[in-house]
Amino acid sequence: MSTEPAIQSRAASRPDLRIPAHVGVIMDGNGRWAKARGKPRTEGHVAGVKALRGMVEHCINYGVDYLTVFSFSSENWTRPKDEISFIFGLLRRFVASDLEKLHRNNVRVRIIGSRDGLDDSLRRLIAEVEATTALNTGLQLQVAFNYGGKAEIADAVRRIAGLVAAGRLKAEDITEDTIGRALYTAGMPDPDIIIRTSGEQRISNFMLWQSAYSELVFVEENWPDFNEAAFLRVLEEYSGRDRRYGGVEAQIR
Ligand code: IPE
Ligand code: IPE
Ligand code: MG
Repeated sequence: MSTEPAIQSRAASRPDLRIPAHVGVIMDGNGRWAKARGKPRTEGHVAGVKALRGMVEHCINYGVDYLTVFSFSSENWTRPKDEISFIFGLLRRFVASDLEKLHRNNVRVRIIGSRDGLDDSLRRLIAEVEATTALNTGLQLQVAFNYGGKAEIADAVRRIAGLVAAGRLKAEDITEDTIGRALYTAGMPDPDIIIRTSGEQRISNFMLWQSAYSELVFVEENWPDFNEAAFLRVLEEYSGRDRRYGGVEAQIR
């Protein structure tokens, strides 16, 4: 992050905006951003990390409680090996360069996703990030890395089935809450809004269970171009949405 958090929330200057408690972001379009500039795709990922720093700041400044960003999907393993190792290297560099500042800004960081396929040093790094920031009470930042919504549900089902097999849970006692608590996002509110950049209009296996009633906002900017003005346009769009949750009246927030 390049600046310290604003002392006074910027939301105070925009009382017309409804601020979502939980924002999910599918950070897409890094490769196309780079291609449009005649650069290698890797440059797009570097620019994407800068946009992520900006997004963390905007969420702090506007009073968002939870930010969950999709940074590497379980399907992204199909990409060329070089690109995958570059993205993994970027995660390491992001932690090395930003952990201290995130911690100073009271941000709690969690990495959600499967630990399968990650080497020991990366697992240790994840454990370090999570332990360092575990008691922070400001922005709750979830980085979805090696994450897939279907894999997350399969993991949860496996865990619940284990409890049933061990006689610690009755099958008839399984509720939506049981499943919610077995997901990587246990204890967090569902995202109020999911933003996808780069003009693609699909979920691509992001937060399948949690997005049941999320407002979806698709924007044309590629992720590296997603700045504060773009974020404000999204908040304006969100503020105009009626959330009915299957009912008749719009619910607040
Ligand atoms: C998003 O940008 C970052 C990751 C999926 C890792 P992309 O790399 O998907 O960029 P495009 O969609 O090819 O432009
Ligand atoms: C979704 O983007 C995953 C991330 C942003 C990490 P993709 O670029 O992988 O999605 P598709 O392939 O266009 O659906
Ligand atoms: Mg993409």
